Amino acid sequence: MIDQFKTDVEAGLSQEPKTISSKYFYDAKGDALFVEIMKMPEYYLTRAEYEIFSQQTEAIIAALGLDKNRYFELIELGAGNGQKTKELLKVLVNKEFDFAYFPVDISANALSKLEDDLAEEIPLLNVQTQQGEYFKVLSRIRETPFRKVILFLGSNIGNMKDELASKFIYQLGANLRPQDRVFLGVDLIKPKSIILPAYNDKAGITEAFNLNLLHRINRELDANFDLDKFRHCPEYSERDGIAKSFIESKIDQTVTINKVNKTFQFKKGERIHTEISRKYNDEIIKKILLSTDFEILDKLTDSHGYFADYVLNRK
Ligand code: AVI
Repeated sequence: MIDQFKTDVEAGLSQEPKTISSKYFYDAKGDALFVEIMKMPEYYLTRAEYEIFSQQTEAIIAALGLDKNRYFELIELGAGNGQKTKELLKVLVNKEFDFAYFPVDISANALSKLEDDLAEEIPLLNVQTQQGEYFKVLSRIRETPFRKVILFLGSNIGNMKDELASKFIYQLGANLRPQDRVFLGVDLIKPKSIILPAYNDKAGITEAFNLNLLHRINRELDANFDLDKFRHCPEYSERDGIAKSFIESKIDQTVTINKVNKTFQFKKGERIHTEISRKYNDEIIKKILLSTDFEILDKLTDSHGYFADYVLNRK
């Protein structure tokens, strides 16, 4: 893991323009900062999807075609604290649906916390936590003969380029059978005046989240990034429907990363591209699904029309 980080940081900072993958945001500090981001008034995504889960629970159950008399497996990729999903789980348990909940996460810590919470809040729920990478876990559980529903929420798909998102969804399908479903949460295209502040909150949490990447390189790869000499730079292109985050150098400077035995030059204004957060509409989703085995069955949106959960059927 640390070797991969080292290789990727070295390659990413050696290329033009400099780039580091957003997957490296999520160390313990990054996880905690992301939880804070989700509480920021500007970061509407989590609240919008929570509204769908809490106010349209029956519609979700109907759209997923869940049948009380047929056992199914509800698999959530990147379950986190399960805040939104709990709304659905409570109703399913109260109505005595026959199912098991499989929260999947790379972080064993996050899963054991979620397991404790669920035992307290929804004691009758059958929970089977699955620690590991998504596709490793899916290949482990795909063999069971039961109907499967995968939740992939929070517009997590938006941190992938469209081509990768297509491959990712195709791979989900490869682990499912016809009539299984995917519930895909995505942020919708909307004006810059709403999207950009979500990636530039006034409290500076997103800034700390982005710059934490440099902290992580300092700590894990023995580097000397001076965080005061870099700034968080978010952008949103209404034409492309893509928000991007960069870390910009405030001055001409040289940074040494001891574990890769190299120095890297930064010009004043030079940027490291750290994240894309894609925004969607029906057309983009349909294009992404073209090379997969899924069709769109339904779409639920929040009352502002900010966020959508697409119900995808495995053909
Ligand atoms: C996890 N992911 C969907 C978030 C997003 O909106 O792209 C990560 C994030 N980056 C900055 N703020 C939130």
